[in-house]
Amino acid sequence: MKKIFHSVRGTCDFYPPQTFIIEKIIEKAKRIFEIFGYEPILLPHLEEEGLFKKGIGTTTDIVEKQMFKIESKDVVLRPEATAQVARFYIENSLHKFKDFHKFYYIGAMFRGERPQKGRLREFHHIGAEAIGSENFYLDAEIIDVSLKILKASGIDDLSLKINSLGCAKDKNKLSDSIKRKLRDYESVLCPDCKKRLTTSPLRILDCKKNSCQKIVSSLNIKSQHLCEGCHSHFFGLLAFLDELKIKYVYQPLLVRGLDYYTNTVFEITTCRLGSQDALGAGGRYNNLIYDLAGRVQIPAIGFALGLERMLLVSNLPKEYSTIKVGVACTSSDIYRQAYKLTQTIRDEGVGCDIDYKGKSLKAQLKNFQKLGVPLVVIVGDAELKEGCIILRDMRESRQEKVKLEELRSIIKERLGA
Ligand code: HAM
Repeated sequence: MKKIFHSVRGTCDFYPPQTFIIEKIIEKAKRIFEIFGYEPILLPHLEEEGLFKKGIGTTTDIVEKQMFKIESKDVVLRPEATAQVARFYIENSLHKFKDFHKFYYIGAMFRGERPQKGRLREFHHIGAEAIGSENFYLDAEIIDVSLKILKASGIDDLSLKINSLGCAKDKNKLSDSIKRKLRDYESVLCPDCKKRLTTSPLRILDCKKNSCQKIVSSLNIKSQHLCEGCHSHFFGLLAFLDELKIKYVYQPLLVRGLDYYTNTVFEITTCRLGSQDALGAGGRYNNLIYDLAGRVQIPAIGFALGLERMLLVSNLPKEYSTIKVGVACTSSDIYRQAYKLTQTIRDEGVGCDIDYKGKSLKAQLKNFQKLGVPLVVIVGDAELKEGCIILRDMRESRQEKVKLEELRSIIKERLGA
């Protein structure tokens, strides 16, 4: 018995029609990025392990449990791209060329999580990072762009959750106050949160365990930790979102599981995804570039959407054949002419295909019908002798004899091109 190889757990093979939908989503995302002035970047899948330890934080789930490390090399498959973009920005001294940058990326990320629906070990991010401004209008833009991409991808049941962690000082204040308030509850916290009480108290707010959530909500945490500047930044942003008619839910317990965030954090969920309901998330990271050996503090904000989760809930049409004209051949003797005719139609920039398996005319037509091809050119011996072919409109089940020299213009007219 030959061994059958399977795809690696937590990875996906994508093929049509899914790949057509993925292409459509990417095309729409790129268009929106272009309109908003974001420029494409293509960064490696491999990065130094230390980058994420320092960037995301050593006590986060991603760094503690989920990174794929290439043993003996201190290199990992990137689990996310924000720390990586910061590394790229610093390494290339981009601040010297321009004081403000807007980038977007589309690519694979890797996390060794326990696979389930919507949670993979290799998945794709459509993400953006805007570097060099603290302005809350930029926060609104980042949120707007992420929502626009989701909507253009045929996803509507969206809910935007938003919070502000404040600056580093505010975060410490919040962290200390959680620590203080939770001391009395230590014995009833889950084992992970017990540990977090000393390593990363903020992440207790994010715990999904019912018992911890109950305790946390009784603490009545709101925006008390925010200093004046961070308070006005956040509430200025919320007021502007109101003006833009972008609906949001202010969620004071939203902290996100990456340590680099400061100020605005947000998450976009849908009720149609089950437990892994986040389609995307983002936030500010005003200190990350400085913390990663930058010389100056450069504020930034970004987001990333999970492409596979978008695919699960996208309403975009499932049929996307690129073939608009099929060429069917009545006998193998004239296949050569039929093939050349196929090429002539392709040269016009029209998607065109032909049978390669010697199928009967009936089977060829059936196949084109199945693919949803609107026009079929039937090449027959008798018609060829007259310099003609039969053009069949599959949508109306109607056919007519057409002169070869008129074929190109008639095809374009029928396709409305
Ligand atoms: P994140 O929340 O870790 O943020 O990931 C963003 C999105 O990626 C999630 O909302 C989800 O849709 C998708 N995602 C995450 N993990 C998986 C997985 N295992 N399988 C499938 N999809 C997944 C970040 O990574 C930040 N870098 C976002 C950001 C950019 N913040 C600022 N700039």
